[in-house]
Amino acid sequence: MPDLDTVVREISEEMAARADRGTVADYIPELAHVDPNRFGIAVVQADGRISAGGDSEVLFSIQSISKVFTLTLALGMIGDRLWRRVGREPSGNPFNSIVQLERERGVPRNPFINAGAIAVTDVILSGHEPREALGEILRFMQFLSKDPTVTIDEKVAASERRTGFRNSALAYYMKSFGVIENPVDYTLGVYFHHCAIAMNCRQLATAGQFLVHNGMNPATGFNVVSPERARRINAIMLTCGHYDGSGDFAYRVGLPGKSGVGGGIFAVAPGKASIAVWSPGLDAAGNSHLGRIALERLTQRMGWSVF
Ligand code: DON
Repeated sequence: MPDLDTVVREISEEMAARADRGTVADYIPELAHVDPNRFGIAVVQADGRISAGGDSEVLFSIQSISKVFTLTLALGMIGDRLWRRVGREPSGNPFNSIVQLERERGVPRNPFINAGAIAVTDVILSGHEPREALGEILRFMQFLSKDPTVTIDEKVAASERRTGFRNSALAYYMKSFGVIENPVDYTLGVYFHHCAIAMNCRQLATAGQFLVHNGMNPATGFNVVSPERARRINAIMLTCGHYDGSGDFAYRVGLPGKSGVGGGIFAVAPGKASIAVWSPGLDAAGNSHLGRIALERLTQRMGWSVF
């Protein structure tokens, strides 16, 4: 077995030197300022040791990676009733697509496309003030990452609120079918804010450890979710975590993973490691270009593919 610290260092050096860096997302104006030359990686192994490289301590906008954690919270609140509000099939469409919603009566294909994640946020919001729901999500991230400093980048949230017309369209459309129960503005406000949580690779890899250990949080020894639920969240990450690039990610990397347009990818090597990579340049499907290549190198060298 190769030495993980060496593998992580070599991957960091290769990624820092590459010229092909993808394109930084600019549809959320505040994200367009991020330096495309950044690359960070953190790997938390089963015994808790962390191997990190590059810009692993630099904060970035976790964006859609937050959807793994909101899904976990919503399942904890209403269990399998969640699947009446959102499906669990890959969409084969871009993350912000609206086309399937009309044919499928406002029920989004899965909890990771924007429509599905907005529906999940609406479940977390139910019966709460938006501030309370957001506090719940943020405290969950702080607890899992063992870091009370994790916070929301208000500039990113405000930037998306000003320009998130597609997400507004998705939310109002779902509202017309009764899939969104709260005022659309409230649901979107919470959604934009949880997407704007800022974390670094080390915090994110730490936060995801429960999905490596059958639902158990190694910091406490207690389960965050049952083993069965952890397996299922991982299954949805594998099939839907990279939108219409999910097949290619499974083919190349072979791990459950979730991307965000901030350029982060969180990935799970079951029983072995929790991984976070970050490079802001994206490919055509909106997933981190170098992040995916780095994960491909890591799984190949460590033999961590689930297949
Ligand atoms: O709603 C949006 O468009 C963003 N807040 C999140 C999208 C995202 O991260 C897609 N992932 N690659």
